Amino acid sequence: MKKKIPCRVLENKEIAKDIFDMRIDAKDIAKEAKCGQFVALYSKDKSRMLPRPISLCGIDREKGELRLVFRIAGAGTAEFAKLTAGDDIEVMGPLGNGFTDFGKKAILFGGGIGIPPMLELAKSLKERPIVVLGYRDAENFLADEFAKVADVYIATDDGSVGTKGNVIDAAKAAGLKGEVIYACGPTPMLRGVKAFGEELCVPTYISMEEKMACGIGACLACVCKSKETDEHTNVHNKRICKEGPVFEAGEVEL
Ligand SMILES: Cc1cc2nc3c(=O)[nH]c(=O)nc-3n(C[C@H](O)[C@H](O)[C@H](O)COP(=O)(O)OP(=O)(O)OC[C@H]3O[C@@H](n4cnc5c(N)ncnc54)[C@H](O)[C@@H]3O)c2cc1C
Ligand code: FES
Repeated sequence: MKKKIPCRVLENKEIAKDIFDMRIDAKDIAKEAKCGQFVALYSKDKSRMLPRPISLCGIDREKGELRLVFRIAGAGTAEFAKLTAGDDIEVMGPLGNGFTDFGKKAILFGGGIGIPPMLELAKSLKERPIVVLGYRDAENFLADEFAKVADVYIATDDGSVGTKGNVIDAAKAAGLKGEVIYACGPTPMLRGVKAFGEELCVPTYISMEEKMACGIGACLACVCKSKETDEHTNVHNKRICKEGPVFEAGEVEL
């Protein structure tokens, strides 16, 4: 059973409007963490009892540090944005399953706040991957870091950088091909990625960032519809926090 661990904030800076890049000292979590997993961050305000799930953008096992990149969405993330070096935060993790099936030429898709977890994955792969990043506008947070480890294609909603449109428009415009696909982003984007994977006939893994409550598989607040029945509930459900957040795209209905 995972427990809450008090962790020290090492750095927290705004890297784009309302997007924060926070590093925390979390030795016990970092030593067992895998890319694609997430942590649950607890608010100090007891009126917000439920933890907020945030993906691992970076894992430094040697230093025992985690990097979390998050957007202010509401009160919880607004509170985390105010933390500064030396502050403490309670963290539970690592949670969820993480990415698998390495060793093939990969295309990674990241959309919006689904972009951060793809960075640690891109760094972990032996063969330089292709990465397609979808942003609203020219505030292309993390794109420079991706460019060091991957061939990067960008799509923007407003057309200010790269292809005007979504990540699939960018992938099709460039005629991208790969042997495996990984993606994290909003559900409509994941739907497009699933269809793209079916067109290419390659294994496709999607990481879902749906709403959660307990984060540890106990409350069923995060279930999505699955092809197979779940052994926990015996219905067509998968708990995103426990069986996910990464699923083979064919396993879940989007
Ligand atoms: C596995 C997982 C990994 C995640 N990783 C990241 C990450 O790396 N970076 C990041 O910025 N965010 C991530 N999220 C989303 C993040 O958890 C929510 O934005 C956060 O919990 C909102 O908390 P809040 O108190 O700030 O906002 P709340 O007051 O709880 O909500 C504010 C608004 O955000 C909406 N919202 C709440 N949770 C989600 C959600 N999961 N997805 C979409 N909308 C939501 C609410 O409906 C509401 O409109 C992740 C979510 C999951 C499930
Ligand atoms: S959030 Fe409670 S079971 Fe997933």
